[in-house]
Amino acid sequence: MRVEYKYDLSSQNTFRMKVSCECYIQYDTVSELEGLNLDSLPKPLLHIGQGSNLLFTADFPGTVLHSNINTIKYVDMGFNEVPIIVGSGVSFDSFVEQVCAHGLWGAENLSGIPGEVGAAAVQNIGAYGVEVKDIISGVVCYDIKERKKVKFGVQECKYAYRHSMFKEQGTKGRYIVTSVLFRLSRVPSPKLDYKGIKEALEGVENPSPTQVREAVLKLRASKLPDVSELGSAGSFFMNPVVSKADFERISPDGSAPHYVLEDGSIKVPAAYLIDRCGLKGEMSGGAQVYQKQPLVIVNASGTASPQDILELEQKVINTVKERFGVTLQPEVEHI
Ligand code: EPU
Repeated sequence: MRVEYKYDLSSQNTFRMKVSCECYIQYDTVSELEGLNLDSLPKPLLHIGQGSNLLFTADFPGTVLHSNINTIKYVDMGFNEVPIIVGSGVSFDSFVEQVCAHGLWGAENLSGIPGEVGAAAVQNIGAYGVEVKDIISGVVCYDIKERKKVKFGVQECKYAYRHSMFKEQGTKGRYIVTSVLFRLSRVPSPKLDYKGIKEALEGVENPSPTQVREAVLKLRASKLPDVSELGSAGSFFMNPVVSKADFERISPDGSAPHYVLEDGSIKVPAAYLIDRCGLKGEMSGGAQVYQKQPLVIVNASGTASPQDILELEQKVINTVKERFGVTLQPEVEHI
């Protein structure tokens, strides 16, 4: 276990905000977590993963907790459906790489997403037509209210687009994910419908999970910044869902990209709206709307402050609101 005071969080958030916390604790096992005297720690408590979906807006006055539980256990490789128990501190992408190499299906479209397994289960990360809930069967947590271990089935997690029970008011912060139970398949089930994947596969017939993974990585690299080179937190905004009437106002001829949901409402790519406002490349201080994918805000100078990011966020929200009457909601969690 590692305990630090007045700790610099620059390397614990992919936006690379230079902020600090009063106390930082990284534990290696569930027993270490259970043994912590939570009452004695500076408050509030904040549990983070890789910090790839966070924006620290200032120094954090409390304790930041981080899991380094990094075990991957294949429960039984003998069946078509393979259960796997994965520690919350495992890098999500190294897990995906490993299961693809074992020839297991289900995770390959989620290749290249920064972050750790625990946070992936809280955030219900998704890409290229797959959400992590599709391969999760259960989530094991430590309940800091009752101070005991608790397991939730996938239904109890109330997963929706970038949402789960763990993000809801009342439960937020109560459950610390210690491991996630996945169920992957030996039976080939490639999902190649998302625009660009088939093309990136360059006509490979009957691709393996690793070949699909490589196509996804290629597609991501063409649009999204690599967080190890350029600070960002992936998509900064969620894709808004609007009514049919609103969509007709946004796009009278219906030519805007859109996706009709089951209830008749319409999801419009925020990237399209931001692009149409001419905001690609827009800057506030060291922060910039990413040229290749305007849904992303990047720390272009490497020294952008939280205020730079917040100012740019507001500029984007206000401009899109004025032009289209749609209020974008941030996807990145503000701390
Ligand atoms: N578009 C433009 N101009 C641009 C870029 C895109 O008009 O410069 C339009 C295009 O019509 C494009 C559409 O926006 O078809 C949508 O873009 P894309 O399919 O690349 O993805 P997205 O909807 O913007 C979502 C997720 C990503 C995920 C991709 C791929 C959200 C908020 N974002 O983005 O997730 O990788 O789909 O599945 O749902 C993340 O959450 O951090 C993330 C990167």
